[in-house]
Amino acid sequence: MTKTIKKTTSSLKERGLTRKDVMQTAMKTKNDEFYTRYEDVEKELSMYDKSIWKDKVVLCNCGDTVDTNEKNSSAFALYFLRNFKELGLEKLICTHYVNSKLLNQKLKGYIYTRVFKSDRFKDKTKYPSNYDGSFDHPLSLKILNEEADIICTNPPFSRARDYWNIIIDSGKKFIIISNITNVKNQPYISFIREGKVWAGYNSVNNYQNREQKITKAAGHWYTNIPIIDRPKYKNLKITSLKKIPDKHKRFDDSKVLVVDNCYIPSDYKKPFAVSVRPILNGILEKGYKLIDNKEYIPCIKYERKFGRILIQKCCV
Ligand SMILES: C[S@@+](CC[C@H](N)C(=O)[O-])C[C@H]1O[C@@H](n2cnc3c(N)ncnc32)[C@H](O)[C@@H]1O
Repeated sequence: MTKTIKKTTSSLKERGLTRKDVMQTAMKTKNDEFYTRYEDVEKELSMYDKSIWKDKVVLCNCGDTVDTNEKNSSAFALYFLRNFKELGLEKLICTHYVNSKLLNQKLKGYIYTRVFKSDRFKDKTKYPSNYDGSFDHPLSLKILNEEADIICTNPPFSRARDYWNIIIDSGKKFIIISNITNVKNQPYISFIREGKVWAGYNSVNNYQNREQKITKAAGHWYTNIPIIDRPKYKNLKITSLKKIPDKHKRFDDSKVLVVDNCYIPSDYKKPFAVSVRPILNGILEKGYKLIDNKEYIPCIKYERKFGRILIQKCCV
């Protein structure tokens, strides 16, 4: 006797997908699945003036899961849950994302909220129909634009460009993690050049994978909230060109000055090339400006060097 198995899932064809689509999505998804460690969130967020959080609605909108088992919760969610009263938050909103391209099932994205009312926390989890929790889902955009004051998360690497566009367009305050090289990559560099985003306080090099194992990636915090007395200024070595050791200054084949090791010439009037580090250490707040919207690749004796950024002293 043949057993008839009821078909509960649709085929790839029925879903308008090829096997290649699924493989590509799976690859991208894998690269996105690394999680911020609690200590890194705490280290960065505790450096901002506490008053920035008072009576504010914080939104964590990229896979910021809230689970009864803290191990499965996002470190951003945990930080704000643990410090809700201390920071004087009005509301915390965390969205949970499910990849609708990979999962052939009813979408289970959710919106978790916490408020403090009548002397107690009120927590709610809603599962709106057809909601995948994507930061660009119309419902997520409504929350971003109409409710949120400050956005904090580590967005997916594969969607970073869209994410930056959306949060910068929203005009909201944010503190997020992104790739360390964004300061020299199109399209991010133009936001930095226009003063819409700047480096936060710290780099983030360690994350956790799904198995809770440490995985390395070069990230940095980015924000549009004022940085007070940036501690990394002390790493900038601003001095006259002649005092920069020869091994840290060279002219490339186009006669552009290239300086390394966070040396910055204080008396050089033309544009010169630096690595990302001086930008992350706050050189743009010390009277220097980015002069191009793209990376600069120096060539020395016809050999291409790694990409830099051209900066110039202001008011020369
Ligand atoms: C780098 S991980 C960070 C997760 C969490 N925010 C944290 O900091 O630990 C990026 C997360 O974004 C999720 N994600 C991918 N695409 C997304 C989208 N379109 N909208 C919201 N989240 C997305 C991924 O599933 C992944 O969990």
